[in-house]
Amino acid sequence: MSRTIEAIIKHTGATSEKKSASATSQTMKAVRIHNFGGPEVLQYEDAPRPQVAAATEVLIRVYAAGVNPIDWKVREGYMKDLWPHKFPLIPGWDLSGVVEEIEPGPAAAGRFKKGDEVYSVPDPARDGAYAEYIVVRESELALKPKSLHHVHAAAVPLAALTAWQALFDAGQLVSGQRILIHGGSGGVGHVAVQLAKWKGAHVLATASTKNQELLRELGVDEPIDYTKQKFEDVARDVDLVLDLIGGETQERSWSVLKNGGALLSLVQPPSVEKAKALGVRAAFVAGHPSGAQLAEIAHLIDSRKLKPIVERILPLVEVRRAHELSQSGHTRGKIVLRVKE
Ligand SMILES: NC(=O)c1ccc[n+]([C@@H]2O[C@H](COP(=O)([O-])OP(=O)(O)OC[C@H]3O[C@@H](n4cnc5c(N)ncnc54)[C@H](OP(=O)(O)O)[C@@H]3O)[C@@H](O)[C@H]2O)c1
Repeated sequence: MSRTIEAIIKHTGATSEKKSASATSQTMKAVRIHNFGGPEVLQYEDAPRPQVAAATEVLIRVYAAGVNPIDWKVREGYMKDLWPHKFPLIPGWDLSGVVEEIEPGPAAAGRFKKGDEVYSVPDPARDGAYAEYIVVRESELALKPKSLHHVHAAAVPLAALTAWQALFDAGQLVSGQRILIHGGSGGVGHVAVQLAKWKGAHVLATASTKNQELLRELGVDEPIDYTKQKFEDVARDVDLVLDLIGGETQERSWSVLKNGGALLSLVQPPSVEKAKALGVRAAFVAGHPSGAQLAEIAHLIDSRKLKPIVERILPLVEVRRAHELSQSGHTRGKIVLRVKE
């Protein structure tokens, strides 16, 4: 009799364990926002685990998520006309992780398999990577650089893709050209400097006093301390200005361009009329996901041509602190959230 009861208890225990395991697989820890606002709207909480809904999608176990200004701009509601996000929203569009689930079949093209270590900029119109799991499109994925651990790999995708697309797609930068990069010590800037040097350009870049040595280490030919010098007194005959600051920095940049040069901004659209009048080109560049370009970037990193700098690594629960730091506008390299040990 007692054995029977024991057996029943064991059986019941096994069933409830099974139930709780399956309940766990339906949920995950994530940082979500339920309305726009300051860092206090970031909530670390349980959320439904996303499901793969199409053969072109991949479920990723997130190990680390890069923090970018776009994250707090979305959180504040500045991007609401561009991306019609629904609440609750998981921010964070920069990640490194491991393939957890992928549908076999022709649509997946066999590029990835379960267990692959990957990195990505997922579609910023969908949920992001401040979570244990994310579903991304296969076209947004690449194998992560082998030489980087996840926390460093997560610092790369958004900054490097944006820099790549601005310099080489929009800017058509070629060897020997002169480029001025505003904000050369930040997330996009420190990658843009290295990519421009790799291409053979002559690089001028701005940052404050504390980051002058960093600019030199990154290979900048003419570092400019914007707190002590007017960049337009130093920079002349520039082929390409990469504006990562906007405002009066952008406005003062026209005068440094040579005839036929280009002013590209990632922050605010430069005046096309002014560009026309001055005989230069001007454009706003919006970065977009590209697994193919991320694969090229991974190759550059593994061949030691490009190295991300990570200023701070914080656990996912400290996301509010990460946003406060990013929002200060003085990040040196990148801030990364560690999602899995
Ligand atoms: N359009 C797109 O697709 C796209 C993509 C990525 C980023 N963005 C935008 O591009 C901007 C830069 O992004 P990020 O990730 O590089 O930002 P970030 O990491 O926050 O940039 C911080 C860097 O900017 C430097 N800085 C601040 N004020 C400066 C000034 N007046 N002159 C020169 N440098 C200055 C700081 O150097 P000091 O501390 O030495 O001052 C710091 O190292 C953000 O507005 C972001 O939203 C747009």
